[in-house]
Amino acid sequence: MLDCCSIAPRWMSLASRSGSPPAPNSLGAYWGMERCICWRSFAMRTALPSHRILSAHVDCASHSVFTLGILFIGRIYRHRYKRYTCKLLVTTCQRKMTNAFEFYGICFSMIIFSIILLSPPHREPPSRPPIIHNTPAAVRTVLDPPTTSMNTLLRSRASPNTRLHRTFHLSNTFVNPDPAVHAAFLRQSRALLQTAKRDWNRFNNVALQAVELSLPNPVIPFHVFVRAATLRTVIVGLLDPRIDITSLASSDLDVVGQLITDLWLLSKNPEHIPEHLLEMLNHRLRRLVPDDEKYPNPLDFVIPTFETLWRLVAVTLAHVHRDAAACGAFRDFNENPSCEQFQASRLGGTSPSVENYISETLRFDPPVRHITRHVDKQSLLTANLPRFLAAWFPPRTELLVADIETAQRTPFWESDKSSADVYDAARFLREPTASHLLAFGCGPLKCAAINWAPRAAAVIVGATLNRVDGVGHYIVRGPRIGGREGWDRWEVRTVS
Ligand code: HEM
Repeated sequence: MLDCCSIAPRWMSLASRSGSPPAPNSLGAYWGMERCICWRSFAMRTALPSHRILSAHVDCASHSVFTLGILFIGRIYRHRYKRYTCKLLVTTCQRKMTNAFEFYGICFSMIIFSIILLSPPHREPPSRPPIIHNTPAAVRTVLDPPTTSMNTLLRSRASPNTRLHRTFHLSNTFVNPDPAVHAAFLRQSRALLQTAKRDWNRFNNVALQAVELSLPNPVIPFHVFVRAATLRTVIVGLLDPRIDITSLASSDLDVVGQLITDLWLLSKNPEHIPEHLLEMLNHRLRRLVPDDEKYPNPLDFVIPTFETLWRLVAVTLAHVHRDAAACGAFRDFNENPSCEQFQASRLGGTSPSVENYISETLRFDPPVRHITRHVDKQSLLTANLPRFLAAWFPPRTELLVADIETAQRTPFWESDKSSADVYDAARFLREPTASHLLAFGCGPLKCAAINWAPRAAAVIVGATLNRVDGVGHYIVRGPRIGGREGWDRWEVRTVS
């Protein structure tokens, strides 16, 4: 942060030029004012970017307020006691100004600037109600606004995600708008995905082992089972193939899965989040992902990969495990996890492919239901001001919500004969254009795993249906299909 102390230590020299040091009472006023004036000329000379000027001026503005405070107190004292101190205070300042007009002009502008610039550089989230966009076209406009720079897009995403930074201490591109952080995170994500994509048979074997190790004896809550199987697969199949899958302790996987869910739900609550929860989460996670050079903060990668994937797997399983045709498609895919098999519809093109089932889950129950953006809007006043002046006024920030879940159930989808509010993977056979899903976002910030994650989820579902086949193990349904939570009474049981 710029500090005006380093820019404008001129009061000393001015004081010495006036022949005597300023009187102690006038010192504060003099000091703050001089620093402010010098800072102003410095900023104008160097044309600093507005955010740096802002942060510099927060410091400077506090001096201005200090100055005004002293002047104000001086005036009260003059009124009450008519002491020479306050006269000295005002007259010393006035002596330094060539005329009274400039003196009062500067005071006035300092009041205005102080009011404007004391607003914190990191703006609070807007208090006005969010603006919901819930049609496919509107969602696209929020996520991929025309003529918007990458820097602005990154800022508009990171700002509403501060709760994730606060809760999980994430430092990735979802919470940090720095373009360098974005580039590095994307590079590392793509490298991981490339390696995983190279060998789907290996990934399939990892998923089979993960399911095997997560199976119950004799019973396990359904969501605990899916979380454990998915986390094992993500860690060994994507994040670090060197890890021995049998070394991942079930207790660590359970605690990590549960704490990520608990903290995510707590992050929506503005109240204090107990710090020991994150400490415990990081401690357990480090045992699962020990490479602290590659993953200095493992949550930066575990959250975007695992947190969405396990719910896609769980919801798909919940919809398909009683459907013989669907189970057949997933078991075939488990035998042969190729791209062709992923896309192959069955029974002469009348029965959906594995890809269709995953797409339908992404449409019907997207793991990311809403994406929020903070967008700065110019007021009428600032729109008509020159840019350098407009930069002084804090913009009006709007909270835009891209409601993906509603958008994917709009009449666009109802052009198909089955209702958009029904889970029906066959709609993708009748309506190929319906595959333009928004579940992975769109525009320059869309998901890096858009082509990998659906197939990876299908592999884990296939591996599960291979083992939880009603012969050795079976799924017990609960009253409703859950999401992050809400899987009451769902279980995986061993056939006795
Ligand atoms: C079912 C699984 C997943 C879903 C539904 C999903 C969804 C999304 C969505 C909606 C976004 C856009 C966020 C925004 O616009 O603010 C996104 C971004 C991203 N996702 Fe995923 N994701 C999934 C899995 C993964 C996986 C497995 C990876 C693995 C590396 C990944 C890596 C990323 C990255 C790097 C970005 C940021 C892209 C950028 O900023 O340019 N995602 N994801």
